[in-house]
Amino acid sequence: MFEQFEVPKSLMTSDPRFGVGPSLIPENHVHALANVSKSLLGTSHRKPAVRNLCKEVQDGLKKYFAVPDGYEVILGNGGATLLFDMIALGLVKNKSLHYTMGEFSQKWFHAHKSVPWIDAEEISVEYGKGIKPAYKEGYDFICCTLNETSTGVMINSLPVVPAKNETDDVLISVDATSGAGQIPCDISKVDVYFFSPQKVFASDGGFFVCIMSPKALKRAKEISESDTYIPKTMSWDHAISNSLKNQTYNTPAISTIFLLNEQVKLMNKLGEDKVVELAKRKAALLYDWAQSKEYLSCFVSEKDSRSISVATIDVDDKYSVDDLEVMLAKNEVAYDIGSYRKLGRNQLRISTFHNISFEDLEKLIQIISLAIENE
Ligand SMILES: Cc1ncc(COP(=O)(O)O)c(C=O)c1O
Repeated sequence: MFEQFEVPKSLMTSDPRFGVGPSLIPENHVHALANVSKSLLGTSHRKPAVRNLCKEVQDGLKKYFAVPDGYEVILGNGGATLLFDMIALGLVKNKSLHYTMGEFSQKWFHAHKSVPWIDAEEISVEYGKGIKPAYKEGYDFICCTLNETSTGVMINSLPVVPAKNETDDVLISVDATSGAGQIPCDISKVDVYFFSPQKVFASDGGFFVCIMSPKALKRAKEISESDTYIPKTMSWDHAISNSLKNQTYNTPAISTIFLLNEQVKLMNKLGEDKVVELAKRKAALLYDWAQSKEYLSCFVSEKDSRSISVATIDVDDKYSVDDLEVMLAKNEVAYDIGSYRKLGRNQLRISTFHNISFEDLEKLIQIISLAIENE
């Protein structure tokens, strides 16, 4: 299918990277990296050049997210998947509650469930349905996923705010991996807000950012002083003490930190409100298109739960998205816009991450419409 389709030259996109992560890294960020290669790449992460870079990232993120005093930006190797385990081992006392609505929120739940001393419970919805987390008594850790990358469902009712007298012993945590930066969430009401930087923050993977409240820092200290065995690579004590010195516990990929910093600077020029507004505009373009064609439909039925970061659009089974993806990739129009494999749907999954332009999304949807309508 789509083998005979010719992409009109006037509609060619300027960049084919519409995937949901790893995401489009601007070329000028890569050039900026090349320009500092001799003074930065291949130098020690314990020396000023790299530590100053880490500090710039930490300060830049504090500014972008309006992080309150007393919170700390913790950096480390391993990404959000590692944090699922690291949080389970070092931040949960014994009872966690998980709001799950797709593969990543489920992965986090299973990471806690496999720890023998944690009683992990989940409140879940069918994939594609929205979820509204609420505070519930009896748990010391509540887990929410800001944007479920596998289904394109976002949580628009975060943070979960416990009543004043119930706040003492519960930490609220948000995996913000594919939403951080362009889906709003008031960090002052969250204790553990984390993400991998290969999505909106346009860097490479294998790294994590975790913004922790004073309460979360205190919990980490208490658990690390207990006699629970925690591998050094997953020790909050090591991650926190190194981050406070603007370094990571073990050697990081310096280029990842550099690219992250370039993106933080770029987004700080606009500020979060403006970045969110742009994301909403791009998401509206995609969802309006899906609603205007009889062969398309929005996978997420509740409007408020439709992600403004990752749009999932079902395509009539008559038109194979796999074949469409092959044609788009061959013509260098778009890469990686098929459905999450395990979801197994004939679906487009297109990101609206900050570096993807509105104009390119307009061209992409015109090309897809033409390709389908010419079949
Ligand atoms: C919501 C969410 N959480 C966690 C992860 C895992 O991130 P990583 O592969 O960087 O560990 C992803 C990856 O796509 C994600 O989308």
